[in-house]
Amino acid sequence: MAEFLGGWRRDYRCGEVTEAMVGRELTLMGWVQRARNMGGIIFVWLRDVSGMVQVVFKADTLPADVYAMGEALRSEYVLAIRGQVALREADAVNEHMATGRVEVNVREAKILNAAETPPIYVEDGAKDNEAIRLKYRYLDLRKPSMQKTMLARSQVTMAIRNHMISQGFAEFETPILTKSTPEGARDFLVPSRIHAGECYALPQSPQIYKQLLMLAGMDRYFQVARCFRDEDSRADRQPEFTQLDLEMSFVEPKDVQTVVEGAFAAVFKEVKGIDLPLPLPRMTWKDAMEKYGSDKPDTRYDMTISTVNEQVRGCGFSIFEQAVEGGQMVCAITAKQAADRLSRKEMDALGEFVKTYHVKGLAWMALQEDGTVRSSFAKFFSEEKLKALLAHMDVQPGDALFLIADKKPVALTAMGQLRGRLARELGLIDQSKDNLLWITEFPLLEWDEESQRFQAAHHPFTMPMEEDFGLLETHPEQVRAKSYDLVYNGIEMGSGSIRIHASDLQERMFSWLGFTHEEAWQRFGFLLEAFKYGTPPHGGFAFGIDRLMMMLTGADSLRDVIAFPKAQNASCLMMDTPSAVPEEQLRMLHLRFDPQDKA
Ligand code: AMO
Repeated sequence: MAEFLGGWRRDYRCGEVTEAMVGRELTLMGWVQRARNMGGIIFVWLRDVSGMVQVVFKADTLPADVYAMGEALRSEYVLAIRGQVALREADAVNEHMATGRVEVNVREAKILNAAETPPIYVEDGAKDNEAIRLKYRYLDLRKPSMQKTMLARSQVTMAIRNHMISQGFAEFETPILTKSTPEGARDFLVPSRIHAGECYALPQSPQIYKQLLMLAGMDRYFQVARCFRDEDSRADRQPEFTQLDLEMSFVEPKDVQTVVEGAFAAVFKEVKGIDLPLPLPRMTWKDAMEKYGSDKPDTRYDMTISTVNEQVRGCGFSIFEQAVEGGQMVCAITAKQAADRLSRKEMDALGEFVKTYHVKGLAWMALQEDGTVRSSFAKFFSEEKLKALLAHMDVQPGDALFLIADKKPVALTAMGQLRGRLARELGLIDQSKDNLLWITEFPLLEWDEESQRFQAAHHPFTMPMEEDFGLLETHPEQVRAKSYDLVYNGIEMGSGSIRIHASDLQERMFSWLGFTHEEAWQRFGFLLEAFKYGTPPHGGFAFGIDRLMMMLTGADSLRDVIAFPKAQNASCLMMDTPSAVPEEQLRMLHLRFDPQDKA
C-alpha cells in the first residue's frame, strides 16, 4: 500500500521544526517512532535523521479518512503530513525532545509506506543482541545514536580531508585489485578469470603505491583508503577497514608527524570543540616499554614500572636472585591505596592473569593501613632488603606492591598488562582525558621464534636510523628504525616511517628478512627496479579512521562505528556473505572447491 509523493514536497526535516515556525503550514515526512491513540486524538512521533517532532491527528477537526490514517499508523510506517505548527500547552511541553515545545496539527496525511513489526526495537538503549542487530543493520542504523555516529564519521573524514588539502596534499585513488602488500597479515585473494590459476590480492594498505607516487613526483599524497586484512577479528580489528593514508617527499619524521597532529587537532576541534595542545608529547619505544610495559602506553594514569634488579640483588629470595644472576630482569609497580581492596583470592587471580603473558608468576605484597603485611614473598626477604625495596618503590601503608622476574621483554609485557588491569579494577583511569602521544625509535627488526628469523617490526620499507647503521651487520636486533606510532589513550591509532629510498639498502633489508635475491626480485622487483630511476627521500603515515571513531564516540567495538561491519567471524549477517557461488561461476575462474572443505 505504498503511496507516491504525488507532488508533495518536504519543507523541513523533523528535527528542524522550531518555535519560530508557529502558525506556519509545513509538509513533513519521516518514520513513525510511535503512535499513541488517546481516543479522538492521536499523538505521533515522526522521526528522521535530524530528530523527532510530534504530529497530532484530531478526530473533531479532520475528515474521517485522514483520521483513519492516523489510526492505522504503526511503528516504522513512513508518513507524510501537512499541517500547522502550534505551541504546546505548558503542561504538555516535553523537555527531553529538542522540538518538545511545539507540535504540528495534521490537516492532510499520506502513508507512503507501511512496515511490518520490526524484528528489533528502533530506539536507543534497546537490548537486542548484536547478531540480530547486524542482520537487520538498516533498522539498527535508524537509531538516533547510530545515525549520530555515522554523521560524525562523515564530519571527521571531512575535517581530515580539509586539513590535508590545506597542507598541499592531493587525493589519489590506488588499485584494489593488486599484488600482495607486506603489512604482515594474510591476504584476501581474487582469482582471475582471464589468467587461469592466478590471483589478485586485495591491498592490506596502499603502501607500495604511495611510495611509487612519490617516485612519480607527486610530492604529497593522501587517500581515505580501504584496506583488507584476513586476520582474526577483535574489538579493534575488522577484515575490511579504512585508513587515512599519506606520504610525503623530502621529509624527516617531524614533518610527517606535524601533518598528522594537525589532522587530529582539526578533528578534535570539529567534533569535540577541544584545542589539542600541539606538538604532542614524544616517548621512545625503549622508555615506553620500560615504564609502561607496552608500545602503546595509556598515560592517563601513572603507576609506572621500575626495574629493581639492584634492590633485589642478594635479597634472600632465590627466584629473584637467580633471575638477576641469569641476566633477566625483576620489575615492579606500586598500586597506591590498593592493599585493602585486593583480597587473597584477587591476588591469586592476578597471578593467573600474568601467567597468560608467559611469566612464571607474580610476587605481591599488601601493606595494610594497620601495618600488617600480607605477601607471597616477604618472608623470604632479609628485613633490611625488604625495607630498602619498599622505600625505593615508595610503598606506604595502604599500598600494594607487585614484582615479576623473567626475560626483560616478557617481564615488562606482563607487567604492562597487569598495570592496565589494576588501573581498570581500581578505577584509576580518568575517562575525561584525551592522551595522545608519539612513540618513536621502534626496533627495525623483530626476532620471530617460529620461523627462526627476523621480521620487519613495521614493514620492510622502513629506514634504519642513520646513527645505527654501524650495527646493521653486527647487532641487527639493536638497530632502531625511523618509525613512529601515534597512541591515543593506550590504543594504537596509526603507524608510519621514513622509507628506504636506495635500492641497495632495500635489497639488503630483504636479505636480513630472509628473502633470497631471487625471492625479493620476484615479489618486489617492480619496486627495486623503480628505485633505480631517481627516488626522492620520502616517508609517511596511516591511521585507522574506524579506530579514531571508536575512541571519539567511546564505542566498545569497531562494529559500532562502521555502517556495514563484519561480525566477529568475518561474515556479513545481513547479506549472508561469504556465500556459496554457482559451479558455473567457479568454473569460469578455473576453481574447484574440495567438498570436504564445505562449512
Ligand atoms: P599499519 O599496518 O600499522 O600501517 O596500519 C595503520 C593503522 O591502521 C589501523 N588498522 C586497523 N584498523 C582496523 N582493523 C584492522 N584490521 C586494522 N589494521 C590496522 C590501525 C593501525 O594503526 N602502510 C602502513 C602505514 C605506513 O607506514 O605509512 C600501515 O598500514 O589504526
